[in-house]
Amino acid sequence: MEQQIGDNSRKDNVFSWQTAKADDFYRKWRDERLKSAEWAKSAQFVEIKNFADPSESERFELMRRCSISNIALYQVDPTPDPRPALRDFAEAFSLRIAEKHRSAGGDGIVALRESDAPGQVGYIPYSKRPMNWHTDGYYNAPDDRISAMVLHTAQPAGDGGANQFLDHTITFIRLMDENPAFARALMAQDVLSIPADEATGRPVSTGPVFFADPETGALQMRYTARTRSITWKDDPLTQEAVACLREALASDPLTITLRFAAGQGVLCNNVLHDRTGFDAEADQSRRLVYRVRFHNRVKGT
Ligand SMILES: [Fe+2]
Repeated sequence: MEQQIGDNSRKDNVFSWQTAKADDFYRKWRDERLKSAEWAKSAQFVEIKNFADPSESERFELMRRCSISNIALYQVDPTPDPRPALRDFAEAFSLRIAEKHRSAGGDGIVALRESDAPGQVGYIPYSKRPMNWHTDGYYNAPDDRISAMVLHTAQPAGDGGANQFLDHTITFIRLMDENPAFARALMAQDVLSIPADEATGRPVSTGPVFFADPETGALQMRYTARTRSITWKDDPLTQEAVACLREALASDPLTITLRFAAGQGVLCNNVLHDRTGFDAEADQSRRLVYRVRFHNRVKGT
């Protein structure tokens, strides 16, 4: 039997039920994730010659990046309608498209653009307004989680519309560094509730912020920085953990900030992301981003 860690100087006993070996594993994992995120921050876009049919080396590079940092940036030659190729591209990574979203067409692809269509008007994704930090599908039921996604820019905004991305494992590490009890609090099954949405018939969604992907065991995150219409568990530790998380996201030096051009996009294991507002002066923005969400992580990551 392995020895229990008996170090009382730790801020918390989160590892008290774990072994020295597990603690050692965590430290190694932590160092590797930080190093990879640092690398990913300055990585160039992977050029894909044929969007619908990426070559083996292109696929390998995207999978490698998703494996080490949960995010891979790519670029293809812009085409008037990238949707058919986008579907095939997703298939090359064995991704299972989540088609339930009300704005997804039959192909499971959602066009994110300023819209006053019924079911979209009044929702921030279909406006020119900024979007705060979140992972996709945070309001989904536990058996309907989003584990990966692609955002593909068909037409950038004339002004603004930049994104920030941050590998959620880095945020987990920031919490662990501050106080392991914060990370543990955010793994509770009842820590974050999103009330039901009568307009769409979506039921209440209650679950953890950090959890293990059921298929791979990899760390996933379910989060929104919004403060209205969400309920955090009402205890002091959770409140502190959420404040720490918020603070960590405000200024993480490993955040990737960019503004996609036409034909550029991101394949990721549903990392944290946000968006700035755009085209404030324009009557109608031309920005068009296609989004497709998946129930599983990128193959092999
Ligand atoms: Fe999103």
